[in-house]
Amino acid sequence: MVAGPTSAINVIFFVASLCIRPSVAQGFLRNSEESEFPFELYGSDVVVVNRTDVEFLASDELGGRNDGTTGSLLAQEFLIDKLQAMGAVGLVSSKSGRDAFRQDVYSRGTNILGILPGSDLSNEHIFLSAHYDHISFCEIKANADSNICNGATDNAAGVAVVLGIGSRIAELSERPRRSIVFGFWDREEDGLIGSQYFIEEDPLIPLSQITTLLNFDIMGSNLLPSLRKVSFAIGAESGGSQLEYLVEQAVISDVSGDLNTVTISAILGSQRSDYFNFYEMDVPIVFFSDSTGPCYHTNGDEIKNVDFDKLEKQARVALKLTYNLATTNRKIKFTEPCINPTNELSGIDLLLFPAEFSDLRVLNNLVNQAYEDIDLFPEAAKPEFEFIKSELNCLTRWGPIAFPFILALDTERLFILLPLIDIFTTPECAGFQADSS
Ligand SMILES: *[C@@H]1O[C@H](CO)[C@@H](O)[C@H](O)[C@H]1NC(C)=O
Repeated sequence: MVAGPTSAINVIFFVASLCIRPSVAQGFLRNSEESEFPFELYGSDVVVVNRTDVEFLASDELGGRNDGTTGSLLAQEFLIDKLQAMGAVGLVSSKSGRDAFRQDVYSRGTNILGILPGSDLSNEHIFLSAHYDHISFCEIKANADSNICNGATDNAAGVAVVLGIGSRIAELSERPRRSIVFGFWDREEDGLIGSQYFIEEDPLIPLSQITTLLNFDIMGSNLLPSLRKVSFAIGAESGGSQLEYLVEQAVISDVSGDLNTVTISAILGSQRSDYFNFYEMDVPIVFFSDSTGPCYHTNGDEIKNVDFDKLEKQARVALKLTYNLATTNRKIKFTEPCINPTNELSGIDLLLFPAEFSDLRVLNNLVNQAYEDIDLFPEAAKPEFEFIKSELNCLTRWGPIAFPFILALDTERLFILLPLIDIFTTPECAGFQADSS
């Protein structure tokens, strides 16, 4: 995950994001038959995420996989091996063999791209995306095994989720109807450069033929002990009610009860990962993330702080969604942001990130839950956290009807929520990030 934009920009995005959308009447949408899910994941030995993949990518040998380093080259060879092993072919059709998996990024950097062709709808693509680069220099915190910035959850884990989904789908006796594309981006940490190159310079497939892009960035990570179960699925409204429905079905397919994937519109995304370059080009997206926690961009983001139990559950939800997207009769179409009726009143006409009142509710639940761990925040952050909590409690209690009026007449009231994401990075990067087992 790339570092956040300046706070002034954040303010605009945040305010722009708080518009009201009618919520989806889920019951309505249960009309067309979905294909039977062909994987026995629960009560069987089948796993989606190969732990060895995460361990290799996050090993000291790869030194953080920063673009242009030896570690990056090793990661590229590994990714091509993995894609070839699952029967994927390179997406760069002007080249052959292993080179067909490589897309040079401007003067420096290499995206790795492959495809598993679909059957009768092979011109429609489900795009699985994760950046494989990390950084060479990061904040050094105590209690880590070395000073190397391994980026285990950011984003070795996200890459392993994509590889795991690909491997499982490749094992099926029948290919799904739509093609599955794998995009491992370089230079995400430099400002989403790898995916920007793909979009702006050389998309390799027409963007209109991407049914949905699923992006994974920061996985298997816990913000706080009290938020161990929480994970985010962001931005499904970009594919309208049909995509929202499929995401909801995937989320509830986790029968373990140990994963609470909260769906939220793009508020928590804030342009922080590669999905954004696609979203801007009207491609429907879902961004899966655990957001930036205490180990974010520190040397503590290493293998011992990966919650593998959570990671596997996240991968199962994503596998379910991928399979259903690849086989569904539903028409997923990019859906324009709704127009907020209070825009004219407030003079704000930026609608880059639509959101709804339910997002406030989600954030309110999150903060109420996290309050149990208030003692883990540094002294200086406690009053701010308390204040955000009480504001969220009020805004939520006043309900959806009051919301447009607050937005129009007392916009500053909402600014107080801005530091919310960053405040979760302030506790110590300690052992609670890993699973409890
Ligand atoms: C997991 O990945 C490693 C290499 O990364 C490979 O050797 C091993 O066969 C894989 N395991 C499974 C079960 O696919």
